[in-house]
Amino acid sequence: MSSPFYEPDLRARLLTGNQPLERRAVVLEADDVCIRIDTPSGAVIPVDHVSLHLREGEVLGIVGETGSGKTVTCRSLLGLMPSLQATHTGRVSYPGVLDGNALDLGRRGMRRHWGRYISMIPQNPMTSLNPVHRIGDQIGEAVAAHSTMTRPQRRERVIELMTRVGIPVPEKRLRDYPHQFSGGMLQRTLIAIALAGNPQVLIADEPTTALDVIIQDQILSLLIDLQRDTGMSLVLVSHDLSVIAQICDRVAVMYAGQIVELAATEDILRRPQHPYTAALLKSLPGAVARDQPLATITGSPPRLVDLPATCRFRPRCGYAQDACGTWTTELLTAVGVAGAGSVGRVRCRRHAELDLSTDLTMVPTAAGPSEPIVGVHADPAPFH
Ligand SMILES: Nc1ncnc2c1ncn2[C@@H]1O[C@H](COP(=O)(O)OP(=O)(O)OP(=O)(O)O)[C@@H](O)[C@H]1O
Ligand code: SF4
Ligand SMILES: [Mg+2]
Repeated sequence: MSSPFYEPDLRARLLTGNQPLERRAVVLEADDVCIRIDTPSGAVIPVDHVSLHLREGEVLGIVGETGSGKTVTCRSLLGLMPSLQATHTGRVSYPGVLDGNALDLGRRGMRRHWGRYISMIPQNPMTSLNPVHRIGDQIGEAVAAHSTMTRPQRRERVIELMTRVGIPVPEKRLRDYPHQFSGGMLQRTLIAIALAGNPQVLIADEPTTALDVIIQDQILSLLIDLQRDTGMSLVLVSHDLSVIAQICDRVAVMYAGQIVELAATEDILRRPQHPYTAALLKSLPGAVARDQPLATITGSPPRLVDLPATCRFRPRCGYAQDACGTWTTELLTAVGVAGAGSVGRVRCRRHAELDLSTDLTMVPTAAGPSEPIVGVHADPAPFH
């Protein structure tokens, strides 16, 4: 990758020929979703008042530290609960396809949508595949779930899918077992399984984590090509903002179970509204000059057991005031920089008075950037 933030070729390929985002139809909507898990040590709320929507052909990034609730949020978009002890409020719908609440329908009600309308690439390729079944059989099973193909037709479709995701010599490799595949090839296999039913919405949960940068780049590139070729909408999850910034139209930043900021990628990069987003940007490699130490965010995220209603980032926030400790967190409207009056959402009571602007050397535009961002020089801010 040429820059830690942004690979212009990748994003330019995505944007070509697309209508402006705001004019495209909404394909998925989550409205005020809360998920609560009762555990012996108390109630855990990994998804707390999460609202988001996804439009046709949009690429939405979800970024956050480990344990911030990204996976539970994504699974809730398919109507899946993290455990039998979990309860929920709020609503997930697929306008025009599923007007009921995906969270209420259960496996039986949702099965016909899984794979066909919405699919998910799970977080861990190694544990997501059955070690004693051949790769071809596992992809074939997904094909069979969505079609009435004969056995030879299924084999052809498996080979087609394996070819599409870049697995070389598929006629031979379909007889391999997962342990004979590299990490990158396993990830491609999971992508092939997710694509078997030609979904309109694909959720990729950390598809590049644990891969080296070259393979990471290849997998991202593959996802972008697939998105462009099929026009599907993509939710890309990562704990790495530099991965997200490369290809997403909008970014949701999660912290301790909440979306603390949701805005156009350009706004997130150039004019973050939440101190946590600003801190994430400052801690990216390349955000500071080579001779300067990398910024880190001191402290650690709170445990998700019995959290207060006040700002969860407060113990780590350099901008905290006493009033932040009594403020009930709510998503506020924030107007960003991407296009005239682009509207984002932020969960910080001080957002209007703080200037967290970064000084990006080069900035992506909706028309597609001609040059990469080569660095971020944020204002001196109280993060260490
Ligand atoms: N079944 C469960 N029972 C109890 N707690 C759970 C359960 N599933 C998830 N959690 C908790 O919910 C929180 C969010 O988990 P989640 O897997 O969504 O995090 P994440 O942001 O995807 O993290 P990572 O980056 O490590 O994948 C974590 O604190 C986790 O321990
Ligand atoms: S509400 Fe206060 S403590 Fe929370 S992020 Fe904003 S400034 Fe920091
Ligand atoms: Mg996860």
